[in-house]
Amino acid sequence: MVPQHANIEIKEHGMRKFIIDCDPGHDDAIAIILAAKHLDILGITTVAGNQTIEKVTTNALKILEVLQLPHIPVHPGSNNPWIQKLEIAPQFHGTTGLDGPVLPAPAIQPQKTCAAQFIAETVKKHKRISIIATGALTNLATALQLEPSISNGIEEIFMMGGSATFGNWTPAAEFNIYVDPEAAHKVFNSGIPIKMCGLNLTRQSYVSRKDIEILREINNKVSLFCYDLLDFFIGSTQKSVNLPGGNLHDVCAAAWAVDKTLIKSMDMHVQIELNGKYTRGMAVCDHRHLRGTDPENDLDHQTSMPRRGQAPNCAVGLELDVEAFFSLLYDTIRSY
Ligand code: RIB
Ligand code: CA
Repeated sequence: MVPQHANIEIKEHGMRKFIIDCDPGHDDAIAIILAAKHLDILGITTVAGNQTIEKVTTNALKILEVLQLPHIPVHPGSNNPWIQKLEIAPQFHGTTGLDGPVLPAPAIQPQKTCAAQFIAETVKKHKRISIIATGALTNLATALQLEPSISNGIEEIFMMGGSATFGNWTPAAEFNIYVDPEAAHKVFNSGIPIKMCGLNLTRQSYVSRKDIEILREINNKVSLFCYDLLDFFIGSTQKSVNLPGGNLHDVCAAAWAVDKTLIKSMDMHVQIELNGKYTRGMAVCDHRHLRGTDPENDLDHQTSMPRRGQAPNCAVGLELDVEAFFSLLYDTIRSY
């Protein structure tokens, strides 16, 4: 039985086609679980970040086998950021990048066409597609470099990255942007409409060990897979940054693509810092058009203040409807 919520969304998004560009990764995996049930996923492209390209690609294949979706093609992307040396995050995602669940080596194989080529070809073939991006933006930027015309064919990018407040990998920078700031700069200056789930938003998707017990109560193959993922991820987060829970960062980007009412946002100009000694990789969000108090206080009405700075290039997520988010997620997991 597909839950009522999902039925509504499938009607709304039934014709909208998506590529998921990711670095699975525990939260990437749950983002795929949510998106795959509600949206028409044309393919998954992988990018190094949480782990190396080989490992995140193997993980994407494993996730699709758990979901029994072997028909969704997986196109491996870049193992190297545009300029800087790859940094990975084994302290959060483990040596496999998906530590926790015990999964067999995947029987399905990755595609031969690389991620950037697949993105470019798919946009040209389908004319209008959207992207859910939950890793570094290397593949997307490379596809734009390869085929600049695709910037007109990408309807929207729902991405997890950056922050309207402070970072995680550095005080200023969030990991996905930090891994490849040059690629992020290319994408944020491409003119493609972006919906940005920054850390300020995704930290509202926090789950504790008590919260994830519901996954054991749902007690199906996918819910128990998610339990094993989050059991590990909460443990590694606690060990690494002394946080007694985990944030479902990437799931927010997928959820926004499924149901646009879940997140309140503000249109802002966002620029990616490339040169700052302490701020390289920061997503610099221009809040100056707000009354300058607390951006969240301006959410319920657009301010009449004259806009300062450059025109907006991004909808910056500020407020998550936490109850509706988790209801959608658990209903979706229940429906597998
Ligand atoms: O900063 C959080 C992001 O970095 C998430 O996408 C997580 O999967 C890691 O890639
Ligand atoms: Ca990710």
